[in-house]
Amino acid sequence: MATKNIKTTKKNNKLGKIISISNQKGGEGKTSISLFLSEALAEKEKVLLVDWDAQANASRFFFKETPTSVFDCLGYRGKESIPANKVIREVHKNFHVLPSSISLANFTTPFGVEDFSLLRDVLETVRKDYDYILIDCSPSLGLSLENALIASDYVLIPIQTRAFSVQGISDLYGTIEKIKKKANPGLKLLGAVFNLYEESRALSGLAEGVKKYFPVFKTVIPRKEGIPQAQVKGKMLKDCDDKIRIPFLELAMEVRSKINDKEK
Ligand SMILES: Nc1ncnc2c1ncn2[C@@H]1O[C@H](COP(=O)(O)OP(=O)(O)OP(=O)(O)O)[C@@H](O)[C@H]1O
Ligand SMILES: [Mg+2]
Repeated sequence: MATKNIKTTKKNNKLGKIISISNQKGGEGKTSISLFLSEALAEKEKVLLVDWDAQANASRFFFKETPTSVFDCLGYRGKESIPANKVIREVHKNFHVLPSSISLANFTTPFGVEDFSLLRDVLETVRKDYDYILIDCSPSLGLSLENALIASDYVLIPIQTRAFSVQGISDLYGTIEKIKKKANPGLKLLGAVFNLYEESRALSGLAEGVKKYFPVFKTVIPRKEGIPQAQVKGKMLKDCDDKIRIPFLELAMEVRSKINDKEK
């Protein structure tokens, strides 16, 4: 499919809020939450989802091929950069995606201080066109996460609901604090979202462990087989049943209200 130059219809002139969906642990639900939360937010507002992972799972949900990707926008190591609005693709009304590709795996080593803010510079060019920009981060704590956090206003942390999910969150907390101190004092914690939640399991011990570091969302995302199945079939949230749709619509409401509170 040819990429087209995207026009936007956003009416107000506020800059979009940028949210990193981050956890350096693999498989906690970053991509699942990025995909369905973006779509849920896009029911009312204009949303860009940035696939910031060389695995390109979010991109594959929508596209068979991505001739150009976010990596081509970065201008890393003196490479000529393509404007983001030429790479962004529309997937649904009010819902655009900046795809990734395996080439992003080359983005590992900073050669100068400018390499820490390449993603921020890319997103600055399109921020006015969106209400929310969500960044689906890769499972890493390195240059890639640092770029996402430097580009962001907020961080949302998906956490699997199981005892040892607390391990490693102090490292993530440490990275966020370092970025706040050194590069992006405006970065705020939106909170941790419990994913793969099962009613039969007690949450209290895990919640206490997480709350030492992050505020916790009231909304939890249940374990539902329909979620991996939807991803295999490329089925969007609007076509999922209410047991999947409603938690994500509630999560979107909680995100809006937390951001509104913090912007007061
Ligand atoms: N609530 C859920 N119920 C059932 N399966 C889920 C749920 N959330 C995520 N999964 C499944 O768990 C797997 C990992 O989820 P996902 O890809 O979203 O995690 P991730 O944090 O993005 O992983 P990675 O770190 O590799 O990018 C996927 O197969 C996904 O479909
Ligand atoms: Mg992922």
